[in-house]
Amino acid sequence: MDMFKTIFAALILIGHAPTVTCQTGANVRALRKKLFDDYDFRVRPTDNQSEPIEITVDLYLLAINELKESTETIKTTAFLVLQWNDSYLRWTPVDHANIEFAFWPQNEVWKPDLALKNSNLDYKELGVPSLNVYNHYTGAVGWAPFQVFESTCSMDIVYFPFDDQTCYLKFQAWSYSRFEVAMIGGSKGIELTQYEPNSGWDVIDSSWKVEEDSVDSIISFSLKLRRKPLPFMLSVIFPIITLAILNFCVFLLPADSGERASYAITVFLAFAVFLTIVSSSLPQNSDSIALIQIFLIIQTACSTLTTVLALALLRLNRFDKDVAIPRILVFVMRCFKCKCCSKGFDESSSGDAEYSNGPRVAKTQRSVAESRIFDGSPTFYVAYQNGSGMVQPHRGTTEKRMSDNSSTGDVEYSWREVVNFLDVVFFVMFACILVASSLGCFLKAALNAKP
Ligand SMILES: *[C@@H]1O[C@H](CO)[C@@H](O)[C@H](O)[C@H]1NC(C)=O
Ligand SMILES: *[C@@H]1O[C@H](CO)[C@@H](O)[C@H](O)[C@H]1NC(C)=O
Repeated sequence: MDMFKTIFAALILIGHAPTVTCQTGANVRALRKKLFDDYDFRVRPTDNQSEPIEITVDLYLLAINELKESTETIKTTAFLVLQWNDSYLRWTPVDHANIEFAFWPQNEVWKPDLALKNSNLDYKELGVPSLNVYNHYTGAVGWAPFQVFESTCSMDIVYFPFDDQTCYLKFQAWSYSRFEVAMIGGSKGIELTQYEPNSGWDVIDSSWKVEEDSVDSIISFSLKLRRKPLPFMLSVIFPIITLAILNFCVFLLPADSGERASYAITVFLAFAVFLTIVSSSLPQNSDSIALIQIFLIIQTACSTLTTVLALALLRLNRFDKDVAIPRILVFVMRCFKCKCCSKGFDESSSGDAEYSNGPRVAKTQRSVAESRIFDGSPTFYVAYQNGSGMVQPHRGTTEKRMSDNSSTGDVEYSWREVVNFLDVVFFVMFACILVASSLGCFLKAALNAKP
C-alpha cells in the first residue's frame, strides 16, 4: 500500500488528484465491465499505433543489500514507479458515480515488458501477478513493481579501501523498440527519501539518463557509492602496518641470540596470510591492481629479504677473525663512523677533528702520545671483545690499537662489529622502505577519496 501512496503522490504532482466520492460495488463492476469488455492487454493501448507510448520511470531506492567486489555485483532493494497513458482505460467520472480511479490486476492491462538490462540473474519479469496497477479516469496508469535487483557493477579497486564505485541500473522494455515504447525520465529520477543507510557504503551521488540508440530506449540510473574505510582500516591496514614495523625490528635482536631466523619467518608467514585475505576480497581478474596489494607485495618482498639478510648476518657473526672483511665494507664503515664522529666534534668546536677517526687514527702515523689522548669508545669495545676483560682506560687500549695497526693494517673491525653496523644499516633501510611505501600507497589512496 505504501507504494500506491507514492504513486498517488506522483500523480497528484502531475495534476490528477483523486478525490473521495461515494460509490457502490456495482458502480465499480459496471465500470470494469465497460472498460474490459473490449480490452486486450496484448495490444499497445494507443489509437495511433505509429506513435510510441511514453513511459516515465522513477526509481525508489530502499536499500543497498550487498556490493561484492569479488564478483563485481550489487544487490539493491528498490521499486520502480512507471506511468503511461492507456487510451482504452478512460472514462468520464460523472457517468460512473464519480469514480475517479480504480485498481486492476497487473496481468489484465497492457504493460511494458520492462527488465533490468544489466542484471546478474536470468531475465526476470518485473512485478508479480498479484500486483495491481492504478488507473486514473484520464487514462493515466501507474505501476510500481517491487524487486530485489542484482546487477553487474564493474569496479575500479585501485584505491581500495578508499574507493568510490559507480553502479548502474539499466531498464529497457525488452521486446519494444523506441518507436513503440519510449522511456522518459520521471520527475524524480532516483528517489532516496525511503533509503535505509548502508553500514559499508555511502550514497554520495545519484543521477539518471535516457540512453537512446537507433533502436533501443534505455533508462539508466547511476548510483555513486563511497566505501566507509574505517572497518577495513582497523581490521587489515592497521595490523599490516604493525606487522611491517615488526618486520624490520628483526635487526634489533642480538645476532647471537639465535631467535632471528624464527622471528623473521613468523613475520613472513603473517604477511602471506594477510595477502591472501586482501586478495580474496578483491576482484579476481581485475584490469587494475589495488595499491594495497602493491603495498603488501612490497612488504612481503621486504620480509623475504629481511629473512635472508638475518640468516646471512647470523652466518657473518660466526666468521673468524682471519676471514678478511671486504675492503668496500671497511671503507663504508669508516666513512660512516668518520662522519658521525666529526659531526660530534664540530659541535663541541674542538679543533682536533682528526682524532675523531678513533682507532683508525694510528693509520696516519700519529705519535703514541697523541693517540693516548684519544679516548675512543670503539677501542674499548674491541679490547673488551677480544677477551682482555675490564679494560684499563687509555693505556691498555692504546697499546692494543698500536699493535693491531702495526701487524695487520686491515684488521680494524671484528666481524661482530660489521654485523652490528649492518644491523643498523638494514634497520634504517627497511624503516625507510616502509615509510616510503606506506606513504606512496595509502596517502595516495586516501587523498584520492577526498575530491
Ligand atoms: C499517427 O502518428 C504519426 C506520427 O506521429 C503521424 O504521422 C500520423 O499522421 C498519425 N496518424 C493518424 C491517423 O493520426
Ligand atoms: C498522459 O497524457 C496527459 C494528457 O495528455 C499528459 O499530460 C501526460 O504527460 C501523459 N503521461 C505520460 C506518462 O505520458
